[in-house]
Amino acid sequence: MGRRPDDDSSFLLSWPLIELERRIEFALVTSPEFYANARAYDIAFSDRDFADECNFLEWCLRTHGCVAADDSRSFIELACGPARHAREFARRGWRAVALDLSPDMLDYARQGAIRDGVLLETVAADMADFTLDRPVALAANLMESLSHMVTNEQVVAHLRSVSRSLLPGGVFVIEMAHPSTIWRDNLPNVWSSRSTDVPYFAGEPYTEVDVLFGAADDPYDWITQQWLVTARLTIRESGQPERVVEHRHPHRWYQAQELRALIELSGAFSKVWWYGDMLIPPPPLDNDAERMMVVLRK
Ligand SMILES: C[S@@+](CC[C@H](N)C(=O)[O-])C[C@H]1O[C@@H](n2cnc3c(N)ncnc32)[C@H](O)[C@@H]1O
Repeated sequence: MGRRPDDDSSFLLSWPLIELERRIEFALVTSPEFYANARAYDIAFSDRDFADECNFLEWCLRTHGCVAADDSRSFIELACGPARHAREFARRGWRAVALDLSPDMLDYARQGAIRDGVLLETVAADMADFTLDRPVALAANLMESLSHMVTNEQVVAHLRSVSRSLLPGGVFVIEMAHPSTIWRDNLPNVWSSRSTDVPYFAGEPYTEVDVLFGAADDPYDWITQQWLVTARLTIRESGQPERVVEHRHPHRWYQAQELRALIELSGAFSKVWWYGDMLIPPPPLDNDAERMMVVLRK
């Protein structure tokens, strides 16, 4: 454990360095195995309507963007995982880009695109530090993947990277957990998924995945506001021995006002809208909303 903030005043100056050291330590003691099991991850998180979510993203661009018509059909999915949204946009005839840190996820996304018969550009990069050669009209960071940006500096760098990669008037959509849920008092967070529940996996070997995302004793650091989240996949595939992969990784979920302050600090966007779900039209972000949707215009 590092020094406490009241030990001496130099703590405040060295805080970002301490955070950086912690991240390096986490990176060394954990592994990216949770995301390396891309197919199991895809089965575990497939109970969403990707086409509906893309309709919402299109609505955001139509309603809040102002991009020249010629350039308007281009999209990047950040922290894309299996890139189901990017592949859906590719199916709709858009230029589709998928960015992730994990080579395994990108391999899986590329195979998925081949299987779908669509064109997908993939970028292996840290979403806190990237620039696209050709900017896009619409960007999305979905399913709370912003929680991988665990320091203020990372969030601001991420917002600036996304803005650099957007056309003028382009739109960036962020999906985060509703602020009322970020203290995670419903732990452990567990569920099971079967490949046969999802038509997409029809004809593939039967796979069952038990997921634990957040254990009851996961530590929370009140100063850095980071959870060290336990993630476990128990994978049962026909004809194979059961496999269990587990790791712990830092995540940070954001309150609306701190996210608002970081967006303002980034200076990367001209307007912001807050919504409570991915419906068309979306409900406002209020105390009873399902989630926190942030729509930013460059
Ligand atoms: C929740 S998952 C995928 C979310 C995906 N958009 C979806 O809707 O299913 C998060 C992804 O973030 C990726 N990731 C984690 N840290 C990252 C970073 N710093 N830069 C880019 N990708 C990152 C992981 O490899 C993983 O594929």
